[in-house]
Amino acid sequence: MKREIIVAGFLLLLLAGCAHQAEPAVTAATSEVSGPTRTPPPTATSVVTATEAVTTGEPVALLPMEQGRFFSASGNCAICHTDLTDENGTDISIVSDWRSTMMANAARDPYWQAMVERETLINPAMSAVVEDQCATCHMPAGHFSAQAEGDETRILSRGFLNQSNRLHTLALDGVSCTVCHQIAETNLGFSSSYSGGYVIDNQSPMGERSAYGPHTIDDEYAGVMQAESGFKPTWGAHVLRSEYCATCHTLYWPTIDSSGQLAGDFPGQMVYFEWYYSDYRRSQSCQSCHMPEESAGVRISSVGSPLRSPFSRHEFIGGNSYMLNVLRTFGDEIGVTASQADFDVTLGRTNDQLETQSASINFESVEIIDAWLRAKVRVENLSGHKFPTGYPGRRVWIHLTIRDADGQMVCESGGYNQNGAIIGNDNDQSESGFEPHYEQIVRPDQVQVYESIIGDSEGEVTTVLLHSASYLKDNRLLPDGFDKEQVYSGIAVRGQAREDENFIGGSDEILYVLDVGQAKAPFTVTVELLYQSLGYRWINDLRMVEGTRIARFLDYSDTISNQPIIAFQDSTEVSR
Ligand code: HEC
Ligand code: HEC
Ligand code: HEC
Ligand code: HEC
Ligand code: HEC
Repeated sequence: MKREIIVAGFLLLLLAGCAHQAEPAVTAATSEVSGPTRTPPPTATSVVTATEAVTTGEPVALLPMEQGRFFSASGNCAICHTDLTDENGTDISIVSDWRSTMMANAARDPYWQAMVERETLINPAMSAVVEDQCATCHMPAGHFSAQAEGDETRILSRGFLNQSNRLHTLALDGVSCTVCHQIAETNLGFSSSYSGGYVIDNQSPMGERSAYGPHTIDDEYAGVMQAESGFKPTWGAHVLRSEYCATCHTLYWPTIDSSGQLAGDFPGQMVYFEWYYSDYRRSQSCQSCHMPEESAGVRISSVGSPLRSPFSRHEFIGGNSYMLNVLRTFGDEIGVTASQADFDVTLGRTNDQLETQSASINFESVEIIDAWLRAKVRVENLSGHKFPTGYPGRRVWIHLTIRDADGQMVCESGGYNQNGAIIGNDNDQSESGFEPHYEQIVRPDQVQVYESIIGDSEGEVTTVLLHSASYLKDNRLLPDGFDKEQVYSGIAVRGQAREDENFIGGSDEILYVLDVGQAKAPFTVTVELLYQSLGYRWINDLRMVEGTRIARFLDYSDTISNQPIIAFQDSTEVSR
């Protein structure tokens, strides 16, 4: 890391007149809530004898056409679920929306592959357990098929990533059409469904398998699809429930302690529970925000079927703008099926969602008293869960700048470097540090970072997923209606934010009191809320272990700079 730059930046700030004050006393994090309860392992399916995989047809737009015993690659579905347009002629094809999403690329994702490699190198004795777990949601068709047929569920070496593995193609197809559309209603909402515990039929032969969807389909059309694809479209309203997405978006990792033993489970991604304990449970499902509805009716197949309404687009937009950019740029060597233009569309939607629907930041009041600028800032979360949510490497922070009458910087908190490190953030400067949650910021090297910081079984900060034992900090912005005193321990607020009275469901308020000295008024004060998919340490820590997939991702990350996205900003002028 370029420590000199940070130090130099900090000195500049000091020279500019933004003086030091005593740091407010920081009380130790209190966490009375008990640890997470154990969830059962992914639902096991019975073992059946393997059959040969059959390959059919010609490739359509390079999507794979392979058909296995339980799944079909997305190319077989593209035959009829592509070339769909709305009444204005806009392409709203299911396949073209889906193929450039993170879910379609869940197995090709080079950062994911690097992290799988790192976890196995750090925990070699556990590599079979690790690979089995990671494949469950990122390579679901490969994992399910291998498990049902009594095969190894490995990813690396001879595993799914190896081109000679018989399940390679289906595994690399990621969270594909026949994965989602075969998830049964059986255990949705029960803890056995979490951590990739979705139930998929392991009996029916290809040709007689069901693909669930929200409509009742006429026999005539159902027959066309069944004859061509081997799957019968079947009404199943459970696909509209948040519990359906929760099968993969509720994730407990096994914890490996410092002696190398398995020691319980860690609530690593709790999107569904965050949503469940918010007001959105009563108003909006995951699908209603992540699969926006078309206003008019749409023919959902290209074989002349009737207009269907509502039609929901397979956009699945989240926040991972960084990785979409990597996939877009290095698509050829990563082997993606979407074009650069497809990625541009998904990337554009992602940035747009971050800028307009994720959060807001505004000044409540700004005043100058003597040499002090006092700014009260309010941040609101507009998403249906914590912001940021999901993978613990995501972070959001406040960048505040004060400029004098000549436009010269007087003071700054939360600036960042080319390499994506936040200036003044302890976590980016030392392996063991991190910023506490602040109610007041009185020095430029204090930064409000909304994030989760994970500790290992010794209480040390870690980014090794399977060493995760507790949250040392979790002040990610809460969704509307989330009562921090009343929720399940797996999604509890951790650290100083628990005691902060204005850190509540939907919002946080923070006071900046900064010395502007004799600088020339009027001042322009600006706040930005910045979002980064991968915090500095989540990339940089990969350098601690050597591996080919790690090296490949580090090459990509050296090329694509990890600049944050401005989720929202506000600016105002203030005189003495
Ligand atoms: C030969 C064309 C064809 C192919 C190939 C095809 N489908 Fe379909 N699909 C249809 C038709 C026709 C309908 C019904 C359209 C209607 O009635 O509105 C349909 C409907 C659906 C539905 C809606 C079901 C419901 O009850 O709401 C889903 C889901 C679906 N298909 C998934 C798939 C998947 C997954 C694949 C790949 C394995 C696939 N389709 C391949 C033609 C096809
Ligand atoms: C229960 C399903 C599930 C399992 C099991 C799972 N993941 Fe994930 N993983 C997800 C989901 C969902 C996301 C996306 C979250 C987001 O975008 O915020 C994700 C995201 C990630 C990312 C971030 C990717 C990026 O581009 O930023 C990494 C790295 C990752 N997972 C690694 C792993 C590893 C390593 C394992 C095995 C130890 C694993 N995952 C097991 C569901 C799972
Ligand atoms: C992450 C899970 C997921 C994946 C992957 C997925 N779908 Fe869907 N699909 C859904 C859900 C959920 C709905 C119902 C959405 C709604 O109506 O709100 C749906 C709806 C549909 C419909 C009916 C359209 C409508 O809204 O009327 C069709 C057809 C369909 N999907 C086909 C496909 C095909 C083809 C693919 C692969 C290219 C695919 N799906 C991938 C979850 C998924
Ligand atoms: C079979 C497992 C599975 C199911 C079911 C599933 N997801 Fe995902 N989802 C994933 C994985 C894995 C990722 C992360 C891929 C990566 O980043 O490498 C992901 C990522 C996402 C993202 C993040 C995209 C981004 O660009 O940041 C969104 C949004 C999302 N899923 C929404 C949904 C919704 C909505 C549903 C239900 C309709 C759903 N998912 C069902 C496995 C699943
Ligand atoms: C009120 C709308 C809304 C609802 C409801 C909602 N989301 Fe989101 N979701 C968003 C917005 C906006 C973002 C982008 C901001 C962010 O990254 O958190 C997002 C981001 C995500 C991400 C990517 C997180 C990241 O930064 O990597 C995942 C994964 C996700 N949502 C899954 C879900 C799941 C699963 C559900 C249902 C349990 C759900 N969402 C419900 C609006 C919503």
